[in-house]
Amino acid sequence: MIKEYITTNNKRFLDELFDWLRIPSISADSKYKPDVRRAAEYLHNKLREAGVDKVEICETKGHPIVYGEKIIDPGKPTVLVYGHYDVQPPDPLALWTTPPFEPQVRDEKIFARGSCDDKGQVYMHVKAFEIMSKLNLLTCNVKFMVEGEEEVGSDNLAEFVKANKQKLKADVILISDTALISLEHPSITTGLRGLSYMEVEVTGPNRDLHSGVYGGAVANPVNVLCEMIASLHDADGRVTIPGFYDKVASLSAAERTALNAAPFDLNDYKRDLDIAEIKGEKGFTTLERTGVRPTLDVNGIWGGYIGEGAKTVLPSKASAKISMRLVPNQISSEITKLFTDHIKSIAPSTVKVKVTPHHGGEPAVTSTDSQPFRAAAAAFRDVFGKEPIPTRDGGSIPIVALFKKELGLDTVLMGFGFDSDAIHSPNEHFGVKNFNLGIETIVAFYKHFSR
Ligand code: BES
Ligand code: MN
Ligand code: MN
Repeated sequence: MIKEYITTNNKRFLDELFDWLRIPSISADSKYKPDVRRAAEYLHNKLREAGVDKVEICETKGHPIVYGEKIIDPGKPTVLVYGHYDVQPPDPLALWTTPPFEPQVRDEKIFARGSCDDKGQVYMHVKAFEIMSKLNLLTCNVKFMVEGEEEVGSDNLAEFVKANKQKLKADVILISDTALISLEHPSITTGLRGLSYMEVEVTGPNRDLHSGVYGGAVANPVNVLCEMIASLHDADGRVTIPGFYDKVASLSAAERTALNAAPFDLNDYKRDLDIAEIKGEKGFTTLERTGVRPTLDVNGIWGGYIGEGAKTVLPSKASAKISMRLVPNQISSEITKLFTDHIKSIAPSTVKVKVTPHHGGEPAVTSTDSQPFRAAAAAFRDVFGKEPIPTRDGGSIPIVALFKKELGLDTVLMGFGFDSDAIHSPNEHFGVKNFNLGIETIVAFYKHFSR
């Protein structure tokens, strides 16, 4: 009956999602502020049409939060669905096969910015709710909280959560904003990394100089910044910041075995990325490197002349944006301080250096020994015919740790994307199959959860 509903209504489901995807809800760019709001209003209307009562747009200092609830019986358990309707900037635009905000299905995949991260996955929940509502299957209470600032650090959501503990009372948080291994190997994410995101600016001479007249006699900030960044890893791929690994939880042999039991093909991985070799911290597998080890990466670096042709210049300034992915039990604010102190200590006296922290967030591990997790596993067994594999994802959803801290709630991370869906990248996509199976699995989750 549920499968049939999804098949019969598939075209409408996709048409509705496409209208939402057409709205460029880019939270990072203030030019798109009205579009971000339009995307919130669109979701508000669709939640109402799906049968959620008490849908509202909650204002924040930044982009609004869409909240809705359906309380069938205050004595029954409550699921709080979280997601985000904001998207990453689509740049570089030239690399998209079709424009990012003109969704198109090719090869049974929906191509658009936000198709997988996270509008497409949020919409599975809206449609799952519609099905339960129309077919009279709802046996617990459901709350929706979908924000517009996840991609910029969720600062205002954190405040909203702290100020609305009663409103958000629930038994579990349910999120679809992560990845599956594959349709043949369904998985449930049980851990996310934290984040410290920093910006470093190095200033040399008080103005750009002729690189012939001054070159060789004055420190070049681009050269200096590159040397400093190069020194942040040793020959074994370990981060050299003193104290960086002090709090890192090590895994037991059994935990490592379990983590590495997940299907992973190194050759497929390299072929997909067109790389000849992988690289990472010595002594750890790829799944460990992305799942349970902390990292440091340059996300952007600039300085000097990057226009057409060649301009001979010894630049005055150089900058880099650097992210560190954190694992239990590292603390974002502590890592931020260790990084800042270390950068200042290694900066040569030939330059001035300024370190500015951007957003951060704590790592999270979710429980596998809980009724909601078992309900999610049962849902995957129903729909995929297989036991889902627990995995640790490398990305971050900082609000998960905050939900635990502020609301005391555990999260179930039931994501349906693939790592290869190109989120944050040109040609982001989401499988139509993933979308449909996701809806079915979510409905099955509620059935098992309410038992
Ligand atoms: N949905 C992603 C996080 C994610 C992706 C988790 C894939 C697991 C697998 C989320 O929207 C995201 O991009 N988060 C940011 C952090 C945020 C503070 C900007 C990230 O991980 O870079
Ligand atoms: Mn996301
Ligand atoms: Mn994202």
